Amino acid sequence: MRGVPAVLLAGPVSRARRLVSLLTGADLPSPLQGRRVMVTGASSGIGEATALACAARGAEVLLVARRADELRRVAVDITAAGGVAHCYPCDLSSGEAVDDLVKVVLAEHGGVDYLVNNAGRSIRRSIASSYERMHDYERTMEINYFGPVRLTMGLLPAMVDQGFGHVVNVLSWGVLVKAPKFSAYLASKSALDVFSRIAAREYLGDNITFTNVRMSLVRTDMIGPTGLYAKAPALTAEQAAAKVVRALEDRPVTVDPLPARAIDALNLLTPRVADLVFHAVHQRFRESSQARRHLRD
Ligand SMILES: NC(=O)c1ccc[n+]([C@@H]2O[C@H](COP(=O)([O-])OP(=O)(O)OC[C@H]3O[C@@H](n4cnc5c(N)ncnc54)[C@H](OP(=O)(O)O)[C@@H]3O)[C@@H](O)[C@H]2O)c1
Repeated sequence: MRGVPAVLLAGPVSRARRLVSLLTGADLPSPLQGRRVMVTGASSGIGEATALACAARGAEVLLVARRADELRRVAVDITAAGGVAHCYPCDLSSGEAVDDLVKVVLAEHGGVDYLVNNAGRSIRRSIASSYERMHDYERTMEINYFGPVRLTMGLLPAMVDQGFGHVVNVLSWGVLVKAPKFSAYLASKSALDVFSRIAAREYLGDNITFTNVRMSLVRTDMIGPTGLYAKAPALTAEQAAAKVVRALEDRPVTVDPLPARAIDALNLLTPRVADLVFHAVHQRFRESSQARRHLRD
């Protein structure tokens, strides 16, 4: 139970630091300064913006994704701005590759202080269009659930030894909403959500914490293929990264958009009414042209 007071004080201390910075204009150091922060999916979108923001706060950033050239581009940007970054190309949907990544990172850095499980893939396709597409469910579980769980479990022992660790999962507000046409994606994100809530309870005494960021829509490559989102309000990658950085610094249990909380309450209080509303939404919005393709991609 040595870590309990530290966990309980993390949020208030970090918020007080920000308030003092705001009131006095003093540039107080971020809790991320000098810490090792691993960001997965750092080759684009939210992960790239998060890596840049963490490095700007003085963190030593470990960049993970498949595209080595894109990771190098991000690392060059970080070092050009005076930061420190290391590239670890890795396909997180391969268990072997994740085990190798853990080995190398433990050997080269002794572990990490913060882990951002951000890499992921999204699929918008109804269940009726998925009868022949079990691989959609398997692939989303591989990258959105098994990859981050394996990576987290690989890095946890070193966090326990050092008496500190914080894991931020970039999930989706759909985990609360339970939006139609996202059964594969949201089930995989929900699995990681639940894993981390339970891990938070098991590791609290070790001063290891977990934050589930249930992110709203963000304008990145990921939502590109879905024309439906072209005019929908969305955060920029930088705004999304600011939420992740706040989650790293304050270590809250969850970060939830308010509308998603309201829908979650509707799901809880009047589940059948919520089903009726979302059934109507499901009927109203058609499958995207990409989702209608029944080819193996
Ligand atoms: N955009 C949104 O509206 C939104 C909303 C809620 C949550 N999210 C979540 O935010 C996270 C980041 O997405 P984004 O919007 O920033 O999209 P993105 O720009 O497409 O980023 C996805 C990242 O995941 C990496 N990745 C994908 N498969 C991987 C694999 N097998 N191994 C290692 N890395 C892999 C990609 O890098 P490589 O291709 O180089 O491997 C890329 O860096 C995702 O988990 C997504 O579910 C997004």
